[in-house]
Amino acid sequence: MTNYLILINRDNPLKDSFVPENLVKVNDTEFLEKETYNHYLLLKESAKEAGYEIDVDSGYRSYDHQKRLYEEWLEKYGEDYTKAYCAPAGTSEHQSGLCFDVKLIRIDGNSENSKPTDPEIIWLHKNLYKYGFILRYPEGYEDITGYNYEHWHYRYIGVEHSTKMYNEDIKTFEEYYEKYLKDN
Ligand code: DAL
Ligand code: ZN
Repeated sequence: MTNYLILINRDNPLKDSFVPENLVKVNDTEFLEKETYNHYLLLKESAKEAGYEIDVDSGYRSYDHQKRLYEEWLEKYGEDYTKAYCAPAGTSEHQSGLCFDVKLIRIDGNSENSKPTDPEIIWLHKNLYKYGFILRYPEGYEDITGYNYEHWHYRYIGVEHSTKMYNEDIKTFEEYYEKYLKDN
């Protein structure tokens, strides 16, 4: 059974061999865990009604994919930048299939080509929680999450919990996990 409340970070890695049970195809290149995908579709539909078109730039990434990515980034961008934005293999939420990096259809390139001030991103940050998603690496919480602000990376935890985080204004999953989930 999928654990939608799993905490994944440098201190809480997945097994190297972990592969999600219910991966479904999202577009030509990307996959997500099934319930995550279904909620992504609801979010996408709602965004469309508001006039915004979104897609998944990066969903599930295998251990080996993440390993290659990390090595490529080290080579291209150096250690400081890579550490700030890319999880070492085994410690990425992308290996769980429970998160995605959003791409804005009207902007060429990948998720990092959008800006926090783009209307789509502002809309998403306001509405994500209604569909069970959270902004996983918010601005100003780098000390807690271990990563720089990523306005494009959204993690599925289910509507009940995303709504509770929203209502209680808890900004990071690490803090929410510590307060409500770790002893369960
Ligand atoms: N960008 C996030 C931290 C990842 O690589 O999983
Ligand atoms: Zn991501």
